[in-house]
Amino acid sequence: METKYIVLPGGTLSEEDDRALRLAGETMKQGGLVAFPTETVYGLGGDALNPESSRKIYAAKGRPSDNPLIVHICCLEDIYRIVSDFPEAAGKAAQAFWPGPLTMILPKSDAVPKETTGGLDTVAVRFPSHPVAQRLIAYSGGYVAAPSANLSGRPSPTLAKYVAQDMDGRIDWIIDGGPVGIGLESTIVDMTVDPPQILRPGYVTAQDLAGVLGQVDMDITILRDDSGQAPKAPGMKYRHYAPKGELVIVEGEPSAVASYINEQTGKLSAAGFCTGVIAASEGADSYRADVIKCVGSREDAEQIAHNLFTALREFDDDGVDYMFSESFPHSGLGQAIMNRLLKAAGHKVVRVSDEQ
Ligand code: TXA
Ligand code: MG
Repeated sequence: METKYIVLPGGTLSEEDDRALRLAGETMKQGGLVAFPTETVYGLGGDALNPESSRKIYAAKGRPSDNPLIVHICCLEDIYRIVSDFPEAAGKAAQAFWPGPLTMILPKSDAVPKETTGGLDTVAVRFPSHPVAQRLIAYSGGYVAAPSANLSGRPSPTLAKYVAQDMDGRIDWIIDGGPVGIGLESTIVDMTVDPPQILRPGYVTAQDLAGVLGQVDMDITILRDDSGQAPKAPGMKYRHYAPKGELVIVEGEPSAVASYINEQTGKLSAAGFCTGVIAASEGADSYRADVIKCVGSREDAEQIAHNLFTALREFDDDGVDYMFSESFPHSGLGQAIMNRLLKAAGHKVVRVSDEQ
């Protein structure tokens, strides 16, 4: 299939851009697939109420079909068609965080096919804040199933060029709305249990949710790799976000981390491999490697979140074989950053200490 492209400038949409978006929306109504920007990452959309569209999404991503999709809406009232219950707490969270980077798990109505929910009786719902996403959802009939627009297992796309790398020739349209804002996927919270439980950390933090909902739990598998339990969000069990090369996280005092990494990159370079480092700006100067990605200051978790997936994709662009990353604080937004980084590294962590 030939993929068509729409490139949108920032700011107000021209009439011509709007016509193109209408066409893309129409394509989804007829069962086609359209990749589009959201405030978190690019999504790969299809009509959530059409089982055939969901089947096509799984095929385009190469994604196992037991891994459910998030249904995106563009106004709050639309939720009543797809959920069989909308508890008061969910209403509060919607008021506080929608439109925005929060996905809520709720009991599904009969309108949502099992193909979209991977066979589950619950449905994940998100109301994104990105104006292009909102308009496209409206033009496509109001209910867009959209996973991140990457091939299964690859880092979620933060730019349309990364969507094109994975999806060109596999889907009908790619809408280029420039770089995304947040850079990590939405927070997922299960509202079918009491207290609500976070299944995937994201920009909306546990503290943010607790401020509105009171007690909020965290799926144990987010906190511990060795819990022996299956994650409640089926997608969280897969290796994810992985660059093509090998990534290891190195923890410890900054000077010990730098000497360990430099020793490793030195040996690997001598053996003819291309090496890379992910570092915060505070220590970026202390590394020696072929490619050094400075993802931002340790004081600015938003910047690190914004740059992380892009850095992983750029390593692939540069053909890096072995990558080492500093570890980042786990608090607040850091929880989402470290969750994605640990998955990208397949949980390979080396702890180093200064000579005693
Ligand atoms: O920011 C985002 O959420 C992006 C943008 C495009 O909106 N979307 C996204 O979708 O990250 P995806 O498919 O890559 O991740 C959806 C996650 C998966 O881990 C899936 O298992 C989980 O949500 N999920 C979906 N429906 C669920 C359900 N009913 N119960 C539990 N987990 C669910
Ligand atoms: Mg994904």
